Amino acid sequence: MPRYKRFADASVSEKILDSMFLITIGIGYLFALLNLYYTDQGRDGEPGLSVKDIQLAYYGSHNQTRLGAAINGPMESNLPNPAAKQTILDWINRGAKEAEFHEKVEPIMQQNCVMCHSAESGLPIPHFTSYANVVKLTETDTGATIPALVRVSHIHLFGIAFILFFVGRIFILCEIPVWLKRITVAIPFLFLIGDIFSWYIAKLIPGFAYVIIANGALMGTAFGAQLLTSLYQMWFYKPKSNPVEM
Ligand code: HEC
Repeated sequence: MPRYKRFADASVSEKILDSMFLITIGIGYLFALLNLYYTDQGRDGEPGLSVKDIQLAYYGSHNQTRLGAAINGPMESNLPNPAAKQTILDWINRGAKEAEFHEKVEPIMQQNCVMCHSAESGLPIPHFTSYANVVKLTETDTGATIPALVRVSHIHLFGIAFILFFVGRIFILCEIPVWLKRITVAIPFLFLIGDIFSWYIAKLIPGFAYVIIANGALMGTAFGAQLLTSLYQMWFYKPKSNPVEM
């Protein structure tokens, strides 16, 4: 019958090496969470990290453009009447074409906006003196771009797979029921892959932000369980049985 190695068979140097690795990775994971917090919190204008922040990060706010938001909000009072506002909104919805800008929108802006939105005013705000400047404020926010997601995907898959592999290798030396061990070594990888794919789906379906959060939480739980069980068993656990299966 084959006999597999357990923590009881590991030398003290090996256990010190394993422990230092696990502790460093554990601290790295906490910083990764902090990084996530600082990157995404406050996207929705509220302090703290919320599901809405995650939705804005991946899905964006689609039907809201900066110009549309301004004239529906703080800049509305600068317009003489609702018809003028509607003319600008219609122009945005029709694709913000240049000909229609000069014909319909520019006169409104010359009258009502350019006194502030121009170089002469000295205010640090966009100048509405050219089509190119105004059209920049009419692009919809569609969240994370595909090239950005692809970049983070490959870095995550390569980098985190290594971490999970080494943590799993150490965890295999634990003494726990073998079925539980087999599931536990696979789970973080499945959630890692699931997490990456859910980013792309969340770009299309805002509700998928919940799946991203669940995936991340489950991966962190499985990973943390491996790490803590390994550290505990390495130093404090006295084996009872003869290990026969890995
Ligand atoms: C009295 C001066 C004034 C007038 C008139 C004015 N604005 Fe503004 N606008 C500002 C200031 C100041 C800000 C920056 C502060 C803010 O966002 O509330 C701003 C911000 C904006 C923004 C946000 C820019 C960004 O970077 O997202 C838009 C869009 C905008 N204005 C559109 C308009 C439109 C359209 C009109 C005309 C109907 C208009 N404004 C008239 C002063 C003015």
